Amino acid sequence: MWENLILDVQDGLAFVTLNRTKQLNALNEKLAVELGECADKIIQEQDKIDVVIIAGSGDRAFVAGADIGEMLRMDPQQAIAFARLLHQTNTKLDSLPQPVIASINGFCLGGGNELAIACDIRIASDKSKFGQPEVGLGITPGAGGTQRLPRLIGPGRAKYMDYTGEIIDAKTALEWGLIDILVPEAELKDKVLAVAKKIQSQRRFAVRQVKQCIRLGKDAALEAALEIEVQAFSMCFTHPDRTEAMGAFVNKSKK
Ligand code: CAA
Repeated sequence: MWENLILDVQDGLAFVTLNRTKQLNALNEKLAVELGECADKIIQEQDKIDVVIIAGSGDRAFVAGADIGEMLRMDPQQAIAFARLLHQTNTKLDSLPQPVIASINGFCLGGGNELAIACDIRIASDKSKFGQPEVGLGITPGAGGTQRLPRLIGPGRAKYMDYTGEIIDAKTALEWGLIDILVPEAELKDKVLAVAKKIQSQRRFAVRQVKQCIRLGKDAALEAALEIEVQAFSMCFTHPDRTEAMGAFVNKSKK
């Protein structure tokens, strides 16, 4: 269906594979558009898909950044359109109803790191490498590296990554909170699957409410954010999952 990515839905899990192996899955305009279209499809299929898993094809990279050859030919107006496109795609993934896991094996650089931080959970292999090397190319990060990144790991470490362009290893990424789980390369697929299935085994409506609470609340003032939580909590009391799950617990404990 798409030239640069594969969507495979199995047992309620959507596996999205960025498929430009020879270019280390570098994000060109086409791939960014296709990823947005894929997100639309995942929204349409939200009754059938519980968790989304994004990975790079091959064993060398998640994504080695935006496509440098394509950017070399851009004028300032085209650069605005490209940055907006990457933002739209990342925001679409961030706001999907389903939790999104980035499964990272190898290079996770520039626009790739920015894509990973738009996902809900990052699980990486021990051979992964992270960085925002844009300043070395004479540009700023253009897909969240100056905005989402400091919100995730704090301004000091984000500035360090953005100013130096240094590539950091997976252990440092874990210490800095850039990734959430670190595993040996051979265990990556199993770990990602186990986390996805663990989420899938919970009550879908409640999981989706949690995602929206954290997403909408994280940049709001605390009072407003706590009210978002109150409303989501109350919404769960309109859903049959709650009566069923609580009823099952109470009835079981009576036996
Ligand atoms: N864009 C386009 N092509 C890329 C690419 C990128 N970001 N990264 C790698 N490739 C291509 C290479 O050109 C090469 O293609 P050919 O075989 O046709 O020559 C192929 O992928 C394999 O790469 P290398 O031969 O360079 O592999 P390596 O092991 O020697 O190095 C690497 C790997 C360190 C990741 C190196 O490829 C590299 O530095 N890539 C660029 C990383 C980068 O600067 N990313 C940030 C881009 S800017 C950005 O992302 C802006 C933004 O925020 C929106």
